[in-house]
Amino acid sequence: MDFLKMPPGDLPAFDDTYGFQQTRSPNPNWTYGQKIEATQEGREWAQGETKGWKVVDTEKEDPIKLYILMISGIVPRPIAFVSTISNTGIENLAPFSWFNMVTHSPPVVSISCSNGPVRVHDTTDNIKANRGFTVNIISEPWVEAANVCSIDAPAEVSEWPLSGLTKAPSVHVKPARVKESAFSMECELLQIIDIIHPVTQKATTSLILGTVKYIHVRKDVLTDKGAVDPAKLKAVGRMGDITYSRIGDGFRLPRPLWEKEVQGIEKALQGLIVQPDHSE
Ligand SMILES: Cc1cc2nc3c(=O)[nH]c(=O)nc-3n(C[C@H](O)[C@H](O)[C@H](O)COP(=O)(O)O)c2cc1C
Repeated sequence: MDFLKMPPGDLPAFDDTYGFQQTRSPNPNWTYGQKIEATQEGREWAQGETKGWKVVDTEKEDPIKLYILMISGIVPRPIAFVSTISNTGIENLAPFSWFNMVTHSPPVVSISCSNGPVRVHDTTDNIKANRGFTVNIISEPWVEAANVCSIDAPAEVSEWPLSGLTKAPSVHVKPARVKESAFSMECELLQIIDIIHPVTQKATTSLILGTVKYIHVRKDVLTDKGAVDPAKLKAVGRMGDITYSRIGDGFRLPRPLWEKEVQGIEKALQGLIVQPDHSE
């Protein structure tokens, strides 16, 4: 069944009994230097290569097709649900998935807003004007309310009343945070980088860097080590077209440390079969 071709209303109902779980990694017996085709799990997947490769020259590709390809290939993306306020006091909410953490020291996030041919996003104008904004992580129980805020409403219309979401006061910036979000950040504009198209010389996109001044995290989603528990946060991500993703099952795979692994790596390079040490 091709779910991508089905009208959203004909899809099976959302399964809210599903719970995030942690498993082992797909190929826990993988050894240093082992080819993917040789692994049980990867063998069938690797055979897809026999159909060959489509090589896309981005300078020649139609921008719409490039957009379709890139937003479906660069997945899953986290989503920043951004609250801003205009110079005249109109409050704005909108989701952005060209979003990520840049660094924790200092804490900086990035959001990328495209500048349409007709108008620049209200979010960009508002951040330029007032510097402060909040980024709220969307959880499954209220994703429809957040999605509705992607509507192309005129600048004088606030998305807050449409969404039914609740404003919670921020401590540092003017725009409210979203009370329904279990993880919100109060951000201050650090830098805006205009992405200039080399052919048209137009600033097609504004890359917004924001310093995170305060984080509001709901206590019930925290582990005793101070991390966010993905099973409790229930964050959603963005795929291609209108597809969202839920956080699928996680698997745990320790990062190799040279000091611990060097002997095994030397043996593997001599042709011996050596598995990475999977103890944490
Ligand atoms: C899940 C989701 C992610 C989106 N991500 C982006 C993005 O990263 N950049 C962008 O320019 N527009 C993105 N959009 C579209 C904007 O949300 C939409 O154009 C919105 O109207 C912008 O609001 P504003 O003009 O009030 O700022 C996204 C829409 C959705 C539903």
